[in-house]
Amino acid sequence: MTMPKITVLYGTETGNSELLAMDICKEGENLGLECENYGMEHIESDDFSSIENLLIVCSTWGDGEQPDNAIDLFDYVEELDAGELENMKFSVLALGDTAFDLFCEAGKEWDRVLEEKGATRIYDRVDCDVDYEDDAEEWIENVLATFS
Ligand SMILES: Cc1cc2nc3c(=O)[nH]c(=O)nc-3n(C[C@H](O)[C@H](O)[C@H](O)COP(=O)(O)O)c2cc1C
Repeated sequence: MTMPKITVLYGTETGNSELLAMDICKEGENLGLECENYGMEHIESDDFSSIENLLIVCSTWGDGEQPDNAIDLFDYVEELDAGELENMKFSVLALGDTAFDLFCEAGKEWDRVLEEKGATRIYDRVDCDVDYEDDAEEWIENVLATFS
């Protein structure tokens, strides 16, 4: 059986999401999955629509905004036609801080836009507060189990 290839994209300002993206790939590879991770600024927008298995890890900045490295890709995806991502499966891990009114807003926006463009949510989004480690680990284990 061919194992699915997983693409992890992270949106980050201070590196928490990047570290989690690396953990996902390490744990995915331990399960025999092929896994690659990229900062959102490093994915060519033309390549985005052909991703089959997408895991997003994204923090929220400013006042409910995307991190800088996520803005261009997010804007691109917002402009796609409805149904354009119908071959994509996805799940979102959102990082944030409950002290902010717009808690985990950027991750919520990714979750919304991917569904709007036709992608299939394979595991529910998890919204993490500042002590994100345990919630993130649970999401990682559960989301990877859907592929193995
Ligand atoms: C200046 C600043 C603004 C932030 N704004 C929000 C926000 O609006 N909503 C939220 O849920 N978290 C907010 N956060 C919390 C970050 O999303 C959180 O610390 C996250 O773990 C950072 O992850 P990163 O290192 O991947 O960027 C903010 C943090 C800072 C320092």
